[in-house]
Amino acid sequence: MRNKDTLKQEIMDAFHFRHATKEFDPDKQIPDEDFRFILETGRLSPSSFGFEPWRFVVVQNPELREKIKQASWGAFSKLPAASHFVIFLARTKVDTIYNSDYLQDHLKNVSHFPEEILEKFLSKVEEFQRDDFKLLDGERPLYDWASKQTYVALANMMTAAAQIGIDSCPIEGFNIEKMNQLLDEEGLLEDGHFGISVMAAFGYRTQDPRPKTRRPFDDVVKWV
Ligand SMILES: Cc1cc2nc3c(=O)[nH]c(=O)nc-3n(C[C@H](O)[C@H](O)[C@H](O)COP(=O)(O)O)c2cc1C
Repeated sequence: MRNKDTLKQEIMDAFHFRHATKEFDPDKQIPDEDFRFILETGRLSPSSFGFEPWRFVVVQNPELREKIKQASWGAFSKLPAASHFVIFLARTKVDTIYNSDYLQDHLKNVSHFPEEILEKFLSKVEEFQRDDFKLLDGERPLYDWASKQTYVALANMMTAAAQIGIDSCPIEGFNIEKMNQLLDEEGLLEDGHFGISVMAAFGYRTQDPRPKTRRPFDDVVKWV
């Protein structure tokens, strides 16, 4: 068993190793089992109420990669070279509203909620969505709420990748409407059940990153 200090140092090294990689080596492929490991850290990520309102679409198809490259200024320099490219989809209101079929099925068959507390739990979810977070006006708030959850998975996947020496770049550089149109044409949004949240490229760097810049610790952490 490694001691805690060694472990902490390894984790911190991974945080320094990770950077938003601008250019990937086209000749280096992430081994399948390593990428599966990265995806698994996404799958195991926490989500609000445990709803897992996401899908991770791994885009290896060259034609679709080219379309994404043309449609996304943030992905342009990363494609086609990145070894793996992931689109994080968020479930839309039709699936995440408290009385949706998706939630009924998820709570019964995935979370294994006992039947007798299901209705009570869902009325708590309704209260949360209606009053606490005000998510029920229009389509966008619930979509954005699901989208927030996908960023937890994104962060875990990038950190896990860094811990095994794999580079990544998160990508928000695209027009949501245009990208949703493209993904819909590709049949990836399942008739409006999903919308794009964020994307990420994974692979291996071609050059050393710029030194990290961050605001000072005491500027971003406040103890009260
Ligand atoms: C949600 C998110 C979206 C981002 N979108 C892009 C992008 O589209 N293209 C890009 O090159 N970098 C993108 N970045 C990278 C950031 O610019 C980068 O993480 C930040 O400047 C800090 O640098 P570092 O990650 O190298 O430490 C994104 C980062 C995050 C967290």
